[in-house]
Amino acid sequence: MIHLCRDPSEARAWCARVRGEGQTLGFVPTMGALHAGHLALAKTALAENDSVCASAFVNPLQFDEKRDFERYPRDFEGDARMLEEVGCSMVFTGTLAQFFPESYAAPGAFPKASLHDPGPRALGLEGDLRPGHFAGVATIVARLFELVIPDRAYFGQKDFQQTLVVRDLARELGFPKIVVCPTVREPSGLAMSSRNRLLSPKDRQTATALSRSLEAARDAWRRGAREARALSAAMRDVLASAAVAVEYATVRDPETWTREEPTGRLDRAVALVAARVASVRLIDNMLLHER
Ligand code: PAJ
Repeated sequence: MIHLCRDPSEARAWCARVRGEGQTLGFVPTMGALHAGHLALAKTALAENDSVCASAFVNPLQFDEKRDFERYPRDFEGDARMLEEVGCSMVFTGTLAQFFPESYAAPGAFPKASLHDPGPRALGLEGDLRPGHFAGVATIVARLFELVIPDRAYFGQKDFQQTLVVRDLARELGFPKIVVCPTVREPSGLAMSSRNRLLSPKDRQTATALSRSLEAARDAWRRGAREARALSAAMRDVLASAAVAVEYATVRDPETWTREEPTGRLDRAVALVAARVASVRLIDNMLLHER
């Protein structure tokens, strides 16, 4: 049976006990509404650690739109069942006030001074379009790491810029080891996302334009295109013929990461896209070079 904790301090005690028994502990942070992408992280974690726990907390600090936060799907019990099936030992959640009791000593808004600086790789793309998003991510992820003290933590390539911010955070804290797992897709190519639950069947078909645009960039790369401008033009060609509102379709060097699109010839590249389909904001990305 999976152990359910509805209070982060209970989760802290559970994790301390497991580590105290000498078990290695893997950790999968999530916002719940789990799908096969999350479960793939859990399965990788289970293969590499003695025990695995997950968090399922819709973190208000990382939402820049109230409506997005309010309609974000929530299903803690359903999540717990799915995690149990793959073999996780514990899942926890809590309230913002439980996660940050020190910041709520006096009532009021979350104090800005308690936010974690997400560092330079939070600049550009998601960081620019969603003000405060990565500070909110870094703040909760740092707190989750402090509670769990995992040996390894698992993140999806799906949120590429987040993996950069989290790697920097783990370097700063001195733990844990960050493992990035490949994006899990529907047979149509659509990247799995909790937000896909908000799409009609027709919208889901429309949303395949994102992954098709990334494939177009990869095809262009394989044909020898190495300039960001040409690669992103290939993406925009695909997106232009779909009923999606594009926020960006662009390319970065995944290792150096720059706020703006790089100029000149690229040796490595990641193509990234964000677009709204029927008001639901979706993101996706793909490495273009062979690893
Ligand atoms: P969430 O969107 O629930 O995602 C949790 C983890 O699952 C992230 O590391 C994300 O990249 C990964 N993931 C999502 N879809 C995936 C897919 N199709 N294939 C592979 N992995 C996928 O990301 C967050 O939550 C939050 O920002 C969090 C890190 C939990 C902090 O609140």
